[in-house]
Amino acid sequence: MTTLRLPGLIDPHVHLREPGATHKEDFGSGTRAALAGGITMVLAMPNTQPPLIDDASLKLAELGAAEKAVCDYGIYLGASGDNIETAASLAPRTAGLKFYLDATFGPLLIKDLATLREHVARWPKDRPIACHAEQMSAAAVLTVAQLENRAVHICHVSRRSEIELIRDAKMRGIAVTCEVGPHHLFLSEADIPRLGSGRCEVRPRLATPDDQAALWANMDVIDCIATDHAPHLLSEKDSANPPPGFPGLETSLPLMLTAVHEGRLTLDALIDKMHTAPKRIFNLPAQLDTWIEIDVDAAWTIRHETTISRCGWTPFDGKTVRGRVQRVTLRGERAYDNGTFYAHPGTGRNLAPAHQPV
Ligand code: NCD
Ligand code: ZN
Repeated sequence: MTTLRLPGLIDPHVHLREPGATHKEDFGSGTRAALAGGITMVLAMPNTQPPLIDDASLKLAELGAAEKAVCDYGIYLGASGDNIETAASLAPRTAGLKFYLDATFGPLLIKDLATLREHVARWPKDRPIACHAEQMSAAAVLTVAQLENRAVHICHVSRRSEIELIRDAKMRGIAVTCEVGPHHLFLSEADIPRLGSGRCEVRPRLATPDDQAALWANMDVIDCIATDHAPHLLSEKDSANPPPGFPGLETSLPLMLTAVHEGRLTLDALIDKMHTAPKRIFNLPAQLDTWIEIDVDAAWTIRHETTISRCGWTPFDGKTVRGRVQRVTLRGERAYDNGTFYAHPGTGRNLAPAHQPV
């Protein structure tokens, strides 16, 4: 057994369903799933019920997180047509501003170019902007960010056209970063007959094997691996109207370690994409005395039954992976040890500047 010590991983894209849909997940269950996956810091998305677009809704998430989280976290504000005037004043309490430029789960969607420009112009330049921007939307948001002379982060890139656009933009010195989800690296539309169409609903959709190959071929363009952990119950996924999204917090590191085993990625690149780069891109403070220990050789099979996330399933059920999280230490304290959670609810800290001790 080879035990390896890595820094606590940072996942800049998770949906923890609080407020509003805690039957799928909440800050407690979601951050426990994070610890089990070797992740010590998560940035939570704002497409909750209600969506996080103002002081009152943001407070609901802040209170739930403060009470329950067992790992550190930040919370995004959602950009909407209704908060152009007020969003920037909330920036210090947030991990960043999230734009939904393409339809997905929840009501947040901006299709109006003027609204997008106004939001981007007003949001503080030193606070992150993250965008769900597929296909043409990716080109639109790159243009707007350029005109406002600021950096932008593109979420869950899934297609050849998008990763090549970002590659070429970077080559021209444009301040763009991006993330890719493990599900787009390890699954494609070729897996839909096996897994079933409802369970495969996800935004961006599972792409073609050619798109998938383009992501692997452009691994050096991918800044972060982000799970886009989007838990929905199997009863919902198997219904007539399946919501899009996969859980991912517990399987991300084992999948990426498997890629290391297979020689498709170096361990240094894994650490960069799952710790160093997200920390830099999202201006996150260091987590002192925080690390994870993993058995890099352990082979194990992912199963629905052992899922910690409240959603209780995984699209990777039956897949054998290499690499298992043994222990997580958060601020010098044992937080997780071989299946047992030691961190108390409320141990996690909000890392947004307004919540930091001065
Ligand atoms: C996300 C969700 O369920 O909240 N679903 C998804 O398919 N990724 C929404 C999102 O990230 O677009
Ligand atoms: Zn998402």
